[in-house]
Amino acid sequence: MSKTIIISNRLPLQISIEGKNIKATPSVGGLATGMKSVHKSGESIWIGWSGLTEETIPTDMKTKVDEASAKEDCINVPLSEDDIEQYYYGFSNKTIWPLFHYFTEYAEYHNEYWEKYKEVNQKFADVVAKHIQPGDKVWVHDYQLLLLPKMIKDQFPDVAIGFFLHIPFPSFEVFRILPYRNELLEGVLGADLIGFHTYDYERHFFSSVRRLLGYELNFNEIIVNNRVIRADIFPMGIDYDKFYNASISQQRKSVTDRTQLQQELDKHQLVNREVKFILSIDRLDYTKGIQNRLHAFEHFLEKYPQYHGKATLIMLCVPSRENVDMYQRMKSEVDELVGRINGNYSTVNWTPVWYFYRSMPFENLIDLYSSSDVALLTPIRDGMNLVAKEYVASQIDSKGVLILSEMTGAAKEMSESIIINPNNMDEIADSIHEALSMPVEEQMQRIETMQNRLKRYNVEKWAADFFENLNEVQAIQQQNSAKKLTSKIVKKITDKYQNSKNRILFINYDGTLVAFKENPKKAGPTDEVIDILDKLASDTNNRIVIVSGRDKSTFDKWFKDKNYYFIADYGASIKEPDKDWHVTEDVDTEWKKLMLPIMEFYEDRTPGTFLEEKNYSLVWHYRKADPELGAGRANELKDQLTSLIANHDLEIIEANKSIEIKSSTTSKGKAVHQMLLNKDFDFILGIGNDWTDEQMFREMPEDACTIKVGKTNTAANFNTGTFRNVLDFLNEMTK
Ligand code: UDP
Ligand code: G6P
Repeated sequence: MSKTIIISNRLPLQISIEGKNIKATPSVGGLATGMKSVHKSGESIWIGWSGLTEETIPTDMKTKVDEASAKEDCINVPLSEDDIEQYYYGFSNKTIWPLFHYFTEYAEYHNEYWEKYKEVNQKFADVVAKHIQPGDKVWVHDYQLLLLPKMIKDQFPDVAIGFFLHIPFPSFEVFRILPYRNELLEGVLGADLIGFHTYDYERHFFSSVRRLLGYELNFNEIIVNNRVIRADIFPMGIDYDKFYNASISQQRKSVTDRTQLQQELDKHQLVNREVKFILSIDRLDYTKGIQNRLHAFEHFLEKYPQYHGKATLIMLCVPSRENVDMYQRMKSEVDELVGRINGNYSTVNWTPVWYFYRSMPFENLIDLYSSSDVALLTPIRDGMNLVAKEYVASQIDSKGVLILSEMTGAAKEMSESIIINPNNMDEIADSIHEALSMPVEEQMQRIETMQNRLKRYNVEKWAADFFENLNEVQAIQQQNSAKKLTSKIVKKITDKYQNSKNRILFINYDGTLVAFKENPKKAGPTDEVIDILDKLASDTNNRIVIVSGRDKSTFDKWFKDKNYYFIADYGASIKEPDKDWHVTEDVDTEWKKLMLPIMEFYEDRTPGTFLEEKNYSLVWHYRKADPELGAGRANELKDQLTSLIANHDLEIIEANKSIEIKSSTTSKGKAVHQMLLNKDFDFILGIGNDWTDEQMFREMPEDACTIKVGKTNTAANFNTGTFRNVLDFLNEMTK
């Protein structure tokens, strides 16, 4: 039976060895807690790191460690001390983590880290290879494994691969700083579906893909080597019922059955009816804004002295990545700040900050969530922040207020919380006051609205939504691959070619025989192209027709004295071997006077673009412009030209990084039709790459062999990847 293979750096359980015994404790962090529910409810295995390095596992305990993981359908990826030092602490947490969270000054770049990152991603790929079976789906998670999707795709091209990034994807200006940026993007693009928490992360990703790799986007799809890849937003949810029901059962417990922590919290509230608990829970991480929170709380106590003796900040900080300097430094700063606030404000009956530096079991998290009047979450940057959602889900009486940083992914969905800027101390102090004095009805209204949303789009729905999309992308790919020019089809075409006597081959030029160049004038034919065309044309049974939007003078220059046929200027000019060019129709060019100044204006105000005047058309090229500016201006120009052509026989051609305007009385299709008329060809071939070539495909009889280069939607019978595949195909046919 097919299964899902979940892959993340950290497994949902962390193994430790105590004497001869193995202990498994749940992992902390949003990825592990969220995906655990998905793993439990489906047919899946989870591949990741157990938390132990190979050097620390005694040989006689290795099987036991693997068995402990296997009990939870988990598979360990064996990693050495050195791997963890350079791949995990190093590249993952000293390079990518700070950079993706906009802490550019903390990011370190070392080649050894990068080399190890590649090596360890490969180790993950090797373990996956051992467990993958036909029909399985793969779901790779997070920034530690950005190269893994491509590594798996290269080895298993037919397997559906999803990738989800749990942290922010930074803006292009930040991402571009990374020395290994292109490899990382290509790595992620090995996936068929790429998921982000928010629209901002998605658009930043697209912007980098476009600017760094030059790939074209079609809404939220990217086509790379004829493979459709989709990226979309899936804001991660929580296991809502788990938190809600746990809070209910905690409330129903008799006093003596409650946890010790809950009894202490109850006691405090009993002794001082006015006491208010303000809660924060996070890993001790510089992205979480813990120091800001403490400063803001201190400011709140200064500004609102009426809360002295009443408001207590309960701060649970879970130890995290303690080997990294920045985390160690931060720990000392937090210790110091807590000490200062408590030193300044504590009384015999009141300690302003209760600070726990450890992780707590689930039941204690519920105690804290359900007993707190306010949750104060102030990250400087956070991919999502599931704690915000867990707090809201745990308010079974709908009372409670969430104060949430606008820099979290969660803030996009939880607009009923009090949204703050984590760098604005005064605003945070005021928001605490606002939260503590908010009328109960308003609290309930806000919490209930958020609860309804969290209940609907819970983690199960999130995962189901992701898989539905992955299936859709796979279906699109399968549709396309049905038309793929496979070696079997090439063989069939070749047989037909060899058994025919009167052949005509229509071959487009740019993008079909040669690659696009920044300067189109420099895209002349390579020696290989000339060799192939000469070889084809030397067979007296063949007519070779180059079909193009290029003007006749360019072809005169490039193909002087060649015995090929030419259809140039989008069908306005035709040439037969040893004859002069002739014009197919009397084409009007008066319109150029009107359009030229408009197009020149776009050339002048868009750096990197230029205008080309052909015999029967005008082209504005933007290949060298900034990709986003170029695409935006192209849309503007297209709109403007469209509004002007209504009274003329003109059409606009949107080709590869260019906008062209030409007379609509001629077309490649009409010229091809003319050449086929009343002739008895027994082999007709058409190859092209853009929509003007579609006109040519449509003019061809059903038994013609038509091939589209690149993009997917076409009237042609077959698709192939690039001009390289075309040259290989033509070579193969004439062997
Ligand atoms: N958490 C936990 N034990 C603790 C404290 C927190 O398991 O002692 C969990 C918490 O319930 C939440 C996750 O850790 O699900 C933190 O996720 P979040 O998205 O808020 O932040 P991340 O750690 O992923 O950056
Ligand atoms: C965040 C990351 C996760 C990571 C978790 C805990 O949620 O997105 O990938 O697992 O923090 O961090 P750790 O380094 O302990 O795995």
